Amino acid sequence: MTDQSILITGASAGLGAALAHALAAQGAQLTLMARRADRLAQVVSACEQVGGKAQAIEGDVTRAEDGVRLTRAAIDAYGRVDGLIANAGLSMWARFDEVKDLSVFRQLMEVNYLGAVHCLHPALPHLKKSGGMFVAVSSIQGRIGVPHHTGYVASKHALQGFCDALRMEVEQEGVGVLSVLLHWLRGTELREHAFGADGQKIGASRRKHSSESIGLEEASECIIDAMARREREIVLPWKLKALLGVNVVRPKWAEALIRRAVGKQARD
Ligand SMILES: NC(=O)c1ccc[n+]([C@@H]2O[C@H](COP(=O)([O-])OP(=O)(O)OC[C@H]3O[C@@H](n4cnc5c(N)ncnc54)[C@H](OP(=O)(O)O)[C@@H]3O)[C@@H](O)[C@H]2O)c1
Repeated sequence: MTDQSILITGASAGLGAALAHALAAQGAQLTLMARRADRLAQVVSACEQVGGKAQAIEGDVTRAEDGVRLTRAAIDAYGRVDGLIANAGLSMWARFDEVKDLSVFRQLMEVNYLGAVHCLHPALPHLKKSGGMFVAVSSIQGRIGVPHHTGYVASKHALQGFCDALRMEVEQEGVGVLSVLLHWLRGTELREHAFGADGQKIGASRRKHSSESIGLEEASECIIDAMARREREIVLPWKLKALLGVNVVRPKWAEALIRRAVGKQARD
């Protein structure tokens, strides 16, 4: 990744910050976007400490003009774009019939799906020039349903469908499209910031992470490795591929497994 110019959205926390740090340590030139400028500045300084170059762009992926600013900043500073990691995301934790504020569904779609579209559109001509990679940080929930997450699942399915169609359009022009299907990550703010039934953040929770959850460093390493190998899709942890297989052959079995896992989390 030395001297590769990479854009990362949602880089002020969690996986985005971890990816920035890992890419900086490999000598990448980073352009990082999120809404919280103070947190982004801390990530930039951590990137510089490990020898990378990084610049912060305060912005909101739900605004198409901020996507344009993101690419423009990378071109102005580094003259090229070799990769875009669309990572910014929000989640929810509420049954559909308990949701009182339906704007939750619009907000999830705007951040998780349209946010990626807004940032990719201006970056794509530059990715074509560099033969670069578009990385969509999706979720296993982009392929299967999970209770309490209807709006999140819908937004990640939209992102997944977008990637599957886009890949066929741009692969011939040398642009790689990688979807990252993640399970639970440890050490992120996603759950704390998830929308509850009233449309407010659910806040700190005592729910434990499942034993299948993976750490940020491991997830970042796997994603960077998949970028370097120009893979089209990765599932983390890889053994979750079995669940996708069961879902195709015996969807009711998959539903029973998912219900049990989520039910346990809801009780904890
Ligand atoms: N954590 C998990 O278990 C898990 C599992 C599967 C998939 N994922 C996916 O992994 C990605 C990263 O999530 P995470 O777990 O690292 O969560 P996180 O710690 O909450 O980080 C989310 C990031 O997205 C940014 N963001 C949110 N809304 C934004 C907006 N409108 N514009 C720009 N940036 C915005 C946040 O920054 P600001 O608030 O500063 O804007 C933050 O930097 C998400 O796409 C998520 O769906 C996570």
